[in-house]
Amino acid sequence: MDRIRIRGGRPLHGKIAISGAKNAALPLMAASLLTEETLILRNLPHLADIATMTHLLAQHGTEFSMAGEHPDGGHMGHVLKLRTGEITSTEAPYDIVRKMRASVLVLGPLLARRGQARVSLPGGCAIGTRPVDMHICGLETLGAEIDLDDGYIVARAPEGLQGGVVVFSQVSVGATENLLMAATLAKGDVVLENAAREPEVGDLANCLNRMGARIEGIGSDTLRIQGVDRLSGADYTVLPDRIEAATYAMAAAITGGVVELLGARPELMEAVAAALSRANVTMQPTACGVLVGAAGAGHKDSSPGDGLVGIDVTTAPYPGFPTDLQAQLMALMATATGAATITETIFENRFQHVPELMRMGADITVKGATAMVRGRGQSAGSGGGGLHGAPVMATDLRASVSLVLAGLAAEGETVINRVYHLDRGYERLEEKLSGCGADIVRLVD
Ligand code: EPU
Repeated sequence: MDRIRIRGGRPLHGKIAISGAKNAALPLMAASLLTEETLILRNLPHLADIATMTHLLAQHGTEFSMAGEHPDGGHMGHVLKLRTGEITSTEAPYDIVRKMRASVLVLGPLLARRGQARVSLPGGCAIGTRPVDMHICGLETLGAEIDLDDGYIVARAPEGLQGGVVVFSQVSVGATENLLMAATLAKGDVVLENAAREPEVGDLANCLNRMGARIEGIGSDTLRIQGVDRLSGADYTVLPDRIEAATYAMAAAITGGVVELLGARPELMEAVAAALSRANVTMQPTACGVLVGAAGAGHKDSSPGDGLVGIDVTTAPYPGFPTDLQAQLMALMATATGAATITETIFENRFQHVPELMRMGADITVKGATAMVRGRGQSAGSGGGGLHGAPVMATDLRASVSLVLAGLAAEGETVINRVYHLDRGYERLEEKLSGCGADIVRLVD
């Protein structure tokens, strides 16, 4: 298994091109099942999860063709054509679904277009139990008959899905996306209340409208969908990855560097910018993206931890501070001056980076859903933001990348194991960081 080795303590300086958003691309790919025409998706990131979704869709009968790279040399990602002339199988098997929970996003489209679906239950994962009860209840509200059989969701709607009002009991990105896709072909009007407002949901809705769907309320917590008989193909560009962008913003800040995030959209990162500003990190819009640096960063003798101060943050659905940046923020706070509290409200088991960060010298105490981080920063009186390198590993994507951030700041060498987690969500991570001066290499065993 590949590992990543980082020799820390080098401020990042330069530009990083932000890729297309993984969490927008996955539902957009699933949406291709809703039409027999070709859906062209541009700016798709090169990621293991995209490959897994391709594998799953191929098994439903989707044909793929690469339409080349963006003319800027690949920095704008792949252009992929997806065409599902006929759905040849309505089963999403356990072997694929267990690898990636987002596979459950085929449930709504399969049911809407073919009137039936058999999709493996995804089961729990490293960050929590992550049930899919709201996906199921929502589809039942639209008239689907659903049974659970041998670990599979077996759904039927032989006469098609009907109109209805779905009120989500809590905000769920995936349930909103599944219901949104299913509703586009319903016989009647569907209202989704307490819908997720994440920009990736909006991206899906915009693409569906481009395909001929009638969705109103995009960006709000109430989506109104007027069902149509059929959807057509479309040509759509995936939005830039706000989580990747904010991760690199924190990489710049933790190393005392200054980085321009090319293609990043500041209006999608307001909660992050507000939190980072309290921590003494500035994010300024530029003509091409966002410029990021911590207070004092960019000076010839700036070093990790310089200028950063501890802040209190609670994760929340969009427009709140994203759970997908909680681990990265914790690494940043470990190097800051003063205490920080980080409260995780979305997933019940998303502190797995804590023991690994502590092995690198972080001072963190967890009580329930809150982590108290006592920053090592200037009080440690040494470089590295008070962190030191160590061999580490993590069990999910964002936890892994938080260890990368800590490694970039730490004194000495950090080796991150289980790199496949990073490959699920960060495209060309080593290349992007080393392009800004980081000493980071992939060790291929
Ligand atoms: N939930 C339920 N029942 C459901 C659905 C969700 O109880 O039927 C709970 C979950 O267990 C969780 C909360 O609701 O506690 C929110 O989960 P949500 O459904 O919003 O998460 P998701 O759709 O499974 C997506 C992202 C995650 C991101 C979350 C929250 C994709 C492919 N995944 O997951 O991304 O953390 O929304 O924003 O879009 C990541 O990229 O690292 C990642 C985990």
